[in-house]
Amino acid sequence: MGAVVWVTGTQEVEEAHASEAAGGGSTTETPSGTETSGETTTEAPAAAGDAEAGKQVFESAGCAACHTLADAGATGTVGPSLDQTKPSAAVVVDLVTNGRGAMPPFADKLSETQIQDVAAYVSSAAAAS
Ligand code: HEC
Repeated sequence: MGAVVWVTGTQEVEEAHASEAAGGGSTTETPSGTETSGETTTEAPAAAGDAEAGKQVFESAGCAACHTLADAGATGTVGPSLDQTKPSAAVVVDLVTNGRGAMPPFADKLSETQIQDVAAYVSSAAAAS
């Protein structure tokens, strides 16, 4: 008879577990493996990414199809020439993450690290051209 009290107690514990499992669950995994050993780039404090890795992102993500960027040998004309607009890293992060007009968002195609990297690359390569 007194067992009912115990059953209630167990249910409470189970509910706590269930809501815990439902609450978490948005872990964003960042692919590692693009570590660089040399740390000699100390120009723009805004560029947190790795420009070397960003060049690969620029080429593989298809940016070159729409944008001109001399450093990458890109001659696309759908979007503005990045050699001309010379966007800051912050602008690149914003555009690549959210898109704008005919520019598609890449938030679900590229990781946050890749977006930081391509921003570091585009901002430095465009400024140098
Ligand atoms: C399908 C074509 C297309 C692709 C692919 C594309 N873009 Fe764009 N991009 C555009 C267009 C069009 C605009 C102009 C958007 C507007 O302002 O209306 C633009 C704007 C930009 C700007 C802002 C330029 C400025 O200074 O105002 C940046 C930076 C940029 N793109 C970077 C990238 C990068 C980096 C990639 C690859 C990850 C990329 N784009 C891929 C079409 C594209």
